[in-house]
Amino acid sequence: MKAAILIGGQGTRLRPFTLESPKPLLPVLNRPFLEYQFRVLRTHGVREIVLCTAYRADDFRRTFGTGRRLGLKLRYIRETIPLGTGGALKNAERYLADSTSLVLNGDVLNAFDVRAFLRFHRARRAEISIALTRVKDPTMYGLVLTDEKGFVRRFLEKPSWDEVETNTINAGAYLFEPSVFGHIPPGKTYSLERGLFPERLAQNAMMGGWVAPGYWIDIGTVEKYLQVHLDILEGRTPFKAGGAKGLKSAAGARVTAGPGVSVAAFARFSGAVSLGRGVRVGRGAQLCDCVVLDDARIGDGARLDRCVVGARARVGTHATLGPGTALAGDSRIGDYSQL
Ligand code: GDD
Ligand code: MG
Repeated sequence: MKAAILIGGQGTRLRPFTLESPKPLLPVLNRPFLEYQFRVLRTHGVREIVLCTAYRADDFRRTFGTGRRLGLKLRYIRETIPLGTGGALKNAERYLADSTSLVLNGDVLNAFDVRAFLRFHRARRAEISIALTRVKDPTMYGLVLTDEKGFVRRFLEKPSWDEVETNTINAGAYLFEPSVFGHIPPGKTYSLERGLFPERLAQNAMMGGWVAPGYWIDIGTVEKYLQVHLDILEGRTPFKAGGAKGLKSAAGARVTAGPGVSVAAFARFSGAVSLGRGVRVGRGAQLCDCVVLDDARIGDGARLDRCVVGARARVGTHATLGPGTALAGDSRIGDYSQL
């Protein structure tokens, strides 16, 4: 089976970090996020992947090339203007239209069982099947209502609270039969979630809704981007982080560090912390539940709590960064300042 991954969005809710990198390439524990999805696909024998790019398209080819290094065959499609999730997929028709294909959003992480999903889809002779997950706040996602046989009855993108009738949402993974492509208009902006899914339901198409068990996250906001690091480091996912052996100051905390990291005396870590390549942590700095991207410098005595520090940023001595702070790459925070 072939797969397509939708990776053309601008990642506006994850600014400032997505101003210098598309969301699916942001590092998660020192690896491009998309590599985690690639690994799930490879585990299930999916090696041919079409990447539907728009925003910062060249960054993807530069990072993954042909995919050989990863044991994959990657193809790239580039939109000159963003065509939405449906328009992007229509462009991949020539690669996908010969058999059932898997389609993924490029910002979700879910170690789901592709084969079980396919069995579900075939058993229902569905035209489209949607993987589902349960969340506390469905208003940020696509709400999906199913019947007792596992068929989708309603698809409502970004519902308001008074429209929330279930906690199952679209997990951003689909199985599509080739016939679906005939229902997507060519050469124009079109949404799967606001266009194709509700329209095919209104036309009584067979649409399956399969609840994917296990861990799931969409890394689309700064809070969720931080959360995926904490979840992996604290063992709530099936994914592993490389350890940071030899960091004495990491006692009791879960810390992962890229190459070339230096940590000065009396620095203290607690909770889960991810340090990118070449990060320098000053004397007596205190870091709790945070992500520090490549080559950032944390000054002596600085305190970081539940925040993300961008690449090459400089945090002055004794500065304090509180929960939710998202420090842009290359920025400077003065000594003793508080954010
Ligand atoms: N090629 C291309 N072109 N890709 C796009 C475009 C486009 O114009 N617009 C969005 N994408 C890609 C994004 O890069 C992302 O990987 C994926 O499509 C989903 O877009 P998001 O912007 O992250 O959507 P969302 O998170 O608000 O909602 C979507 O995902 C939820 C699950 O995480 C919807 O599919 C919801 O229904 C779903 O619940
Ligand atoms: Mg998203």
